[in-house]
Amino acid sequence: MGITRSFGQTAYYGIWFLRSLLGSKRPLATTMIITYQCNLKCQHCHIAENLPNIPQPHKMPYEVALEEMKASYDRGARVLFFEGGEPTHWNDGERTLLDLIKAGRDIGFFVTGYTTNGTNVFYLESDVISVSLDGPREAHDSIRCQGVFDKLMENLSKVDHPNVFANMVVMPDNKHLVRDTAQIVKDNPRINGLMINFLTPPPDAKVLGPDDKRKVVEEVVALKKEGYPILNSKKALKELLMEDYSKKCPFWASEFVLPDRSKLYGCPMRGESCKRCGFNAVREYSLITRGSISTILSMAGRFGLSTK
Ligand SMILES: C[S@@+](CC[C@H](N)C(=O)[O-])C[C@H]1O[C@@H](n2cnc3c(N)ncnc32)[C@H](O)[C@@H]1O
Ligand code: SF4
Repeated sequence: MGITRSFGQTAYYGIWFLRSLLGSKRPLATTMIITYQCNLKCQHCHIAENLPNIPQPHKMPYEVALEEMKASYDRGARVLFFEGGEPTHWNDGERTLLDLIKAGRDIGFFVTGYTTNGTNVFYLESDVISVSLDGPREAHDSIRCQGVFDKLMENLSKVDHPNVFANMVVMPDNKHLVRDTAQIVKDNPRINGLMINFLTPPPDAKVLGPDDKRKVVEEVVALKKEGYPILNSKKALKELLMEDYSKKCPFWASEFVLPDRSKLYGCPMRGESCKRCGFNAVREYSLITRGSISTILSMAGRFGLSTK
């Protein structure tokens, strides 16, 4: 990326930050839930669990996505993420996720990204790609589905992209496997970091209690010190232990657009589960809005600036 563009993007974030100190409540990131449909039915997934009760539409048409992306951009968002369901399975006629990524860039978003279960095609035009990795083969497959780990690894082996990271949701099934998962990431040249989250309910049965969470956070902090590529900032990890994050969550900074065009702020569970929030991203946003230089530096390079 050119120096001028990088300077322009950094300046935008600086102005956004100064305005937020003065009380402005403009989003910085927008996540488009483009489909609830998915080829898997993971044990911990709130969407898979609730799908029969979610009213239609379950998929966002291209033209609607385009309008919503433009509107988010006009509200101030510059980081654009696509989520689902499984976003790589989204289509509208001939259009695929690639068209949405390109449209996002044309609109002017600085960074585009998406999260995937890794069983389908990878769209390498995206600046950031987050792959779900919930443990080594046995645990990952028992949470997600038989054969998913090998498919993910096979697909990743064909991918040449500078900014792929793994997203792990820690729950009873894999709480003892954080080190093993970090080792898989460290050993895999295609994945360059691991982001740890706790589950945000539902499903309630998969939520860890405070003691278990503390042990996991201590282990992740130790892994970070040992040089494992943990992406959570150190401060955010500590704040993952604050279960009721409703007072600290900078709701306005992170906007979610659902297939029916409704909006949620903070995270997709807003209103339901703030008291047992396990999302790391809102900790990072909160620390950024509170001016934590170490968090700003650790997040900016990976999630804030274009790599294209
Ligand atoms: C909803 S999925 C959508 C993208 C894609 N289908 C995937 O699995 O990566 C996005 C991320 O949310 C995580 N997730 C699902 N249910 C969750 C929950 N109840 N709490 C926290 N994270 C959850 C998934 O493990 C995944 O990493
Ligand atoms: S692959 Fe993603 S969206 Fe699909 S069931 Fe699993 S976590 Fe949910």
